[in-house]
Amino acid sequence: MIPVELIKKAVAAREFGYAPYSDYLVGAALLCDDGSVFTGCNVENASYGATLCAERAAAAKAVSFGYTSFSAIAIAGGRRQQGIVQTCPPCGICLQFLSEFCKEDTPIYIATGGNDYEEYKFKNFMPISFSL
Ligand code: THU
Repeated sequence: MIPVELIKKAVAAREFGYAPYSDYLVGAALLCDDGSVFTGCNVENASYGATLCAERAAAAKAVSFGYTSFSAIAIAGGRRQQGIVQTCPPCGICLQFLSEFCKEDTPIYIATGGNDYEEYKFKNFMPISFSL
């Protein structure tokens, strides 16, 4: 799957974002080794700390279907009124969560508007992750 296809899936998933508190919508799409894709959106909660990010929502779906290795990740985020106008890098909690299922060179594509995106590697955001 080419990166822009994965970006489009993240953009589409963002439409389902449940963000009545921040009005910031995020979608994520995870590509698995066999070509399967799992998407997720952010799910906020009145108890703010209970909010689930899009990346973790997507990862939990994938793992729930037996997929524990991701070959690429796409993320699309932006304020409800503005749309996608700048990069939305994964937060620290999501990076730690994803570190279980990514390699240091796993590509992370971040939407910047339209079909445009920036490409990073997992290690660009998290050079070293906690593990047991
Ligand atoms: N958010 C994500 O979904 N992913 C991230 O990596 C960063 C933040 C969400 C959580 C919250 O619903 C909104 O963005 C504003 O923080």
